[in-house]
Amino acid sequence: MELKNALLKRRSIRKFTDEAVSENDISELLHAAMSGPSACNRTPWEFYVVTNPEVLEKLRKAARYSKITSPLAIVVCGNLSKALPLQLSPFWIQDCSAATENILLRSTDLGLGAVWCGVHPMKTAEKNVREALSLPEKIVPLNIIHIGHPAEEPEARDQFSEKKIHYIK
Ligand SMILES: Cc1cc2nc3c(=O)[nH]c(=O)nc-3n(C[C@H](O)[C@H](O)[C@H](O)COP(=O)(O)O)c2cc1C
Repeated sequence: MELKNALLKRRSIRKFTDEAVSENDISELLHAAMSGPSACNRTPWEFYVVTNPEVLEKLRKAARYSKITSPLAIVVCGNLSKALPLQLSPFWIQDCSAATENILLRSTDLGLGAVWCGVHPMKTAEKNVREALSLPEKIVPLNIIHIGHPAEEPEARDQFSEKKIHYIK
């Protein structure tokens, strides 16, 4: 799929069929994720790939708006021991967000559906995901991406708005 089409076609998908996501597609998604940029190329990300039904159920309940049933969840986490020092540390959030967007776009490209469900900085959701995945202290869950074969097809759309652009010429 041409990148421009994937950008417009990508929508949040919250309903999935029961069909599993293939190992090959999961590998493609992870390659896309790690193709993203990161500040000083620290790559301070870790990806937890969850297909275990019991853990998926825990993730489903982890955050108020993550109650989505999917055959696959990728939890994108920041590894604080690899983040930049001191006040630059929060760049991990931008690094992991770039990786997340790559997963969403590659999902669309592969004919899959996905939705980004925010976790960090919601403390209770973070705690629930931390417990579900037994995360070490230095690993912070940024989001849960629910992924699967789509059972809904929202319209492609362009949210372009000239009002949001500020030309400095
Ligand atoms: C940081 C972030 C957190 C989000 N959290 C949730 C969430 O918890 N649950 C959910 O269903 N969608 C979540 N979304 C998806 C947004 O609701 C969605 O992107 C937005 O409504 C625009 O719709 P679209 O993705 O179809 O273009 C999140 C998106 C972002 C970027």
